[in-house]
Amino acid sequence: MNKQQPIGVLDSGVGGLSVLKCLHQLLPHEDFIYVGDTARTPYGTRTEKEIRGFVGEIIDWLAAQSVKQIVIACNTLTMLGVDSLRGEHEFSVVGMSKGEELLLQASKKKKIGVIATQFTIGTEAHKRALLAADPAAEVYPLACPRFVPLIEGEQFDSAELQDAIAEYAAPLRKAGVDALLLGCTHFPFIREQLEAELGAGVKVIDPAAATSAKAIAELEAEGLLRTEGAGRVDVCCTADLARVERLAARMLPAQDCSFRLIELSKK
Ligand code: DGL
Repeated sequence: MNKQQPIGVLDSGVGGLSVLKCLHQLLPHEDFIYVGDTARTPYGTRTEKEIRGFVGEIIDWLAAQSVKQIVIACNTLTMLGVDSLRGEHEFSVVGMSKGEELLLQASKKKKIGVIATQFTIGTEAHKRALLAADPAAEVYPLACPRFVPLIEGEQFDSAELQDAIAEYAAPLRKAGVDALLLGCTHFPFIREQLEAELGAGVKVIDPAAATSAKAIAELEAEGLLRTEGAGRVDVCCTADLARVERLAARMLPAQDCSFRLIELSKK
């Protein structure tokens, strides 16, 4: 492998663009290839077998593009275990940070909320990580299945999104959480609305920066970090190209990006 190869970033849909935003800012010299499986999103309400099949196809497609690393910009997929996703591939595979250190720093009351997909919440991985770091913490995990379809559907100003936010904020408020993890990479798209509903007393934590730091450390250790040239971002999706372009504009500078529709079976 060499420094010139691109970094692969993947998600079930547009959510991972929130992680790509951070990666592109921190690594302006790197080329990125992003894959969002917009034809089959959301993944978070599906079975493990189904999800494993889909992510296997994306990883094989990215491997055929000669990536030097893959960042799993999806919490649901990270729950499957990065080692099992990496398989026999040579490149490193980096999953989403669970953000437990950031959450414990941010929370005075040690009452911490985690919002994510049904699949992610079902694994209890965030709760375990937080309790391992601080057994006295009180953790309130909450599946929010209404959010991903609304975000994919660009329903940012809709009454339905406002209603979903109010529905999910109520139990978090009742529990008295003062820190909240965005445990799904789609959720930074509605961060402002969530913060407005929860109020200034709740610190909202996005694990994208901690995830990017893991990816950078891995590349550095392998001597694969690029230090010159202007990096490009190649955004690929499996459906709805125009929609993906509009959503990407919320996260990435348009002048650095190109967009295309791909078929995962055609490498
Ligand atoms: N963005 C994803 C995550 O971080 C998955 C959303 C979905 O497909 O349900 O979990």
